This record gives sequence, structure tokens and C-alpha cells, in this order.
Amino acid sequence: MARVKSMRRAPEAASRDHGDPTDFSSLPGFEELRVQRAVGNRLGLENPYFKLHEGRAGSHTLIGNRDLINFSCYDYLGLNGHPEILNAAQDAIRRFGVSCSASRVVAGERQVHRDLEQGLAKHYAADDAVVMVSGYATNLGVIGQLVGPKDLIVYDAVSHNSVVMGSVLSGATRRSFAHNDLDNLDDILASNRAKYHRVLVIVEGLYSMDGDYPDLPRLIDIKRRHQAWLMVDEAHGLGVLGARGGGVAEHFNVDPRDVDIWMGTLSKTLAGCGGYIAGSAMLVDYLRSLCNAFVYSVGMPPVIAASAAKALEIMHREPERVERLQHNSRYFQAGAQSRGMNTGTASGTAVCPVIVGDSVAAAYLSQRMFERGINVQPVLYPAVPAKTSRLRFFLTSMHSQADMDTALSVLHEELSILPEAMPKLTAPDGHH
Ligand SMILES: Cc1ncc(COP(=O)(O)O)c(C=O)c1O
Repeated sequence: MARVKSMRRAPEAASRDHGDPTDFSSLPGFEELRVQRAVGNRLGLENPYFKLHEGRAGSHTLIGNRDLINFSCYDYLGLNGHPEILNAAQDAIRRFGVSCSASRVVAGERQVHRDLEQGLAKHYAADDAVVMVSGYATNLGVIGQLVGPKDLIVYDAVSHNSVVMGSVLSGATRRSFAHNDLDNLDDILASNRAKYHRVLVIVEGLYSMDGDYPDLPRLIDIKRRHQAWLMVDEAHGLGVLGARGGGVAEHFNVDPRDVDIWMGTLSKTLAGCGGYIAGSAMLVDYLRSLCNAFVYSVGMPPVIAASAAKALEIMHREPERVERLQHNSRYFQAGAQSRGMNTGTASGTAVCPVIVGDSVAAAYLSQRMFERGINVQPVLYPAVPAKTSRLRFFLTSMHSQADMDTALSVLHEELSILPEAMPKLTAPDGHH
């Protein structure tokens, strides 16, 4: 009876219980955001995000007319602003304008699209590749195009939001395995494989919160034994892992053709914007013809395709950039560890977290670093698990030893006085 009653309640009663449904401020997460901002204000912490940079941000950046050492961009090989890339971009603008003006299916292709896709295919020794206008939307659109309600997706527990949301939208059953725990992945597949038609395993070439990477040879063995597809998101692996920046396959000396689906973004090492998929001719043909996120979305602006193609060419031609990046990454992490900092599971790559635990402490340290001339962003819960809030350093090939030494000694000083600063940071009600 009670159930019938509640089902028949007047619409105005339902809307009273859940607030005004047309009020944007009732949207999920908004209240938490307001509380977070209020606490930040009360503690005198500035918003560390959305800073206004006044020029090209590389190993240094100009903010508020101050030159800061910058650890907050993914321009791993220092290619954004490279003169050859600027020339390629200007040529493309002069020839093609700045837009494709429709989907490539309708408005057609430009040679720069083909050059970029052929370059990416060659990079992965793949038959072909296709690029889309956003890395995020590539995961969102492609995952659901390949698997559906009769299928299973198993991804690493710390996968990027675009992988998780792409998996949710696909309608497939989702399971996550503990970060980089391939025994756990193997067990999940052993107990579940038989219940599903297709199975897609998704990992990242290099994890962007932790700076570690998966055991690719073992993943290939696992996916073969369980008749699954393996998709590797190389957003942060390209240009960073492997002696020539080839990514996680080069790092492990694995034939890239053993991975079914290479996904990556142009927005990091390649100094552009957009996502790509490289793989078999059949896979790429299927996506080019039928993937909604490609067919029903505008083509990549030719200027971006030309820039990214040139960046890929320079990356291959100048492996000394990769060597310099890898030297810097190892140097920075060793320096952090020798000063007693907690770098978690980081593996001496371009992503180096310094885990401080408490979210307020991480936001405070970021602000102190900023005041002292270093731009490094905090990553706070819930973007990372509770009590693992951190400062996240992105190294580039352009950082000098002095840049890194300065950042490490300033952080070391700030960490050593943090225990005295923290009580003052505690909100009056005792909550952070
Ligand atoms: C692992 C991973 N995949 C996908 C994306 C989305 O790529 P984009 O920012 O180029 O849209 C990112 C972005 O940070 C990422 O880190």
C-alpha cells in the first residue's frame, strides 16, 4: 500500500523532496564544491586551478608577470612552439583555413590528416590509424562502438575518467582490477570470461597520477589466454617511455602488433589536441565508417593535424629529447626520494607525484610553491584515493638541473615546516 501511495504522489511533492529540478545549484556535486571553496577561502587558500598564463607554458611560464618554474604541462619533449611546428601550422592555416567545417565524411579530407594518420600507423607498425577531435571523446566514442551489453570490460582501477565513462556508456558489464595487479586481472577473467561474448581489457601505457606502467608482455599473454582484446591508452606513454619515445611497447621491446587497439592523444607529447586509434586495417576501417564519435563529429582542424604530424616527425628525428626527458625524470625522482619524499609507485618517468596525504596540506603546499616561484598543481581526493593527495610534477626535456634542484629544495623546506603550519590550517570546526 505504502508503495502504491508513494508512486502516486503529486509531482510537486516529489520536487519538494529533491529541491527545484530546474535549479542548477541542485546538480550533484555542486554542494561539495561550494563547501570545498568555502573551506579554502576560510583557510586563505587560493584556487590552484585555472591560472592565467601570459605566454607559452613550458619548463617556465609567465603568470601575473612573474617567471615561474613550471611542472604543470604535458609538453614532455618541449615541442609546443618549435619553429618547424609553427611553420607547418602557418602553412596549413594559409592553405586550408582553421576548420574542416564538417565531418571528414562530408567535408572530405586534407592531405595533413592522411600524413598524420600514416605517421601514427607507422609508429605502431599498425596497418592504419584514425584521428578524432578530442582524446577524451575518442575513449568515450570508441569503447562503446566496440563492446556492448553482452560484453565485459575490465580496466585498471586508476584508469582515466574517459575510459571509465566510455565503459559506462557502452552498456557492457564493467569490472576493475587493482592497480597494476595482473594476478587480479587474470582471476577476474578466469571466473567471468565464459559469461560474455567479447571482452575488452583496458590499461594505460603510463599512469598519469602515479607515474608507473603495466607489465605489457604479461598483459599480452593474459589477453591471449582469455581471448580478449587489449586496448592501451598511450596518452602519457608516447614520447616518454622507450629509448626513442615509442611508448610502452618499445620500453618492453614488444611487437606493437600484439596489442589490438592503441589509443592515444595528440595533446601531450605531440603538442596538439585530439585522439587517435591505431590497429588493424579492419578495426580502423570499421571506426572510420561506423564510429559515431568520428562520423558525426567535425574533422580535426588541418592546422592541428599538420602540427601533430610535424611533432611526431621531430620526436622520431631527435631521440636526444627523449633521452634528456628520461634523464630529468630519473634525476628528479631520485632527488625527491633522497630528501625523504613519498613518490608512491612512480618509476622514474615524466610523471612524479609527491604524496602528502591530506588534501588541505597538498593545496597549501602548492600555494607556498607558487608564492616561491614554482607552479605545480595539487591532485586532491576524490581525483586520487583518500589520504593520497599529492603534488604532481610533470617533467619535460626542457627543465634544467637548476630548475629541478630549486623545486626540490623549496619543497623540502616547505615539507619540513608543514607540521607547524598545519594546525593553523585546521578549520575552526576541526575539519579540513
Ligand atoms: C590517460 C588519458 N586518456 C585520455 C585523456 C584525454 O585526452 P585529451 O586531454 O587529449 O582529451 C587523458 C587526458 O589527460 C589521459 O590522461
